[in-house]
Amino acid sequence: MMRILSGIQPSGSTHVGNYLGAIKQWVSSQNPDAYYCVVDLHALTLDIDPEELREKTLDCVATLLAAGIDPEIATLFVQSNVAAHAKLNWLLECVATFGELNRMTQFKEKSGRQKGYRVGLLTYPVLMASDILLYDAQQVPVGDDQRQHLELTRALAERFNARYGPTFTVPVGFVPHAAARVMDLQEPSRKMSKSLSSPLGSLYLFDEPSEIEKKIKKAVTDTDGEMRFDPKKKPGLSNLLDIFASFSNETPQDVASRYSRYGDFKSDLAALVIESLAPIRTRYRELRSDPGQLSAIITLGAKKASASAEPVYERAAKAMGLIGG
Ligand code: AMP
Ligand code: TRP
Repeated sequence: MMRILSGIQPSGSTHVGNYLGAIKQWVSSQNPDAYYCVVDLHALTLDIDPEELREKTLDCVATLLAAGIDPEIATLFVQSNVAAHAKLNWLLECVATFGELNRMTQFKEKSGRQKGYRVGLLTYPVLMASDILLYDAQQVPVGDDQRQHLELTRALAERFNARYGPTFTVPVGFVPHAAARVMDLQEPSRKMSKSLSSPLGSLYLFDEPSEIEKKIKKAVTDTDGEMRFDPKKKPGLSNLLDIFASFSNETPQDVASRYSRYGDFKSDLAALVIESLAPIRTRYRELRSDPGQLSAIITLGAKKASASAEPVYERAAKAMGLIGG
């Protein structure tokens, strides 16, 4: 069995990029050795209202359950409920260097957009490495934007093992072939994002069907009218083909070969997205209106995750010379 760990931030609303790039893979690869984590500590790196964080964390857990994560099979938990994450984070901050964190593309992008950014924004990938290494994860399913953070995790694990003796499993990333990078529908040179998209640029999981239809209809394509998958020359259309193919489990080329007109293709894409998301939306509403059930699932997840993470933290602390209690 493959030991898997992945995480998602509870900030913003979950979009089709998160679903196709990450959540769908989580569901299909879940097993008793899979750990899925709502990373609320990571959300504190940007400005977020406490009440909003609380609600979004519950939204996020409910979304993962609605999408098909089964808490009886995999472990679904909230990061801050497992103290070992923050504890290992400190140990690994004393293994990582300022230079390597300062080089991270996501840090450069996010810090460039605000004055007085938080130190946590710089050290964010160390916390992510802690999430992964605490579970002896072999495989980490993520979207393309997380490759660099995963490389850093591998480097930290290898450095730690070389310096303090074999302690951590060195994980590998697993980036899906289709929809690894779903792009903004209005600006297809930019990835679909929770925070930065134009109003029509992101398809959210819980958009009303009419909204989904409108956004897909207005999605930017091109004027040559040729139905062809070519992300470099035809980024807008290729993004839509990629989304279609990922929902229907086909290749974008096969999808393209069935259509000759953009309009017909867009109508079918809207219908496919709406139909695929409908059961998730219904289940989400049920879960969100039952706080007792949600909280029991969160408590169970915290217990299961702590049982795996604590011994690994102890192993690392001991290797570094901390005497323990
Ligand atoms: P985040 O929303 O940043 O917490 O991301 C949660 C997961 O979704 C991560 O595995 C990301 O790599 C993935 N993801 C985020 N945006 C996209 C996108 N536009 N396309 C594909 N995957 C994405
Ligand atoms: N950094 C990831 C993102 O922004 C979220 C994340 C945190 C994560 N910890 C993780 C992903 C551990 C995979 C494994 O998308």
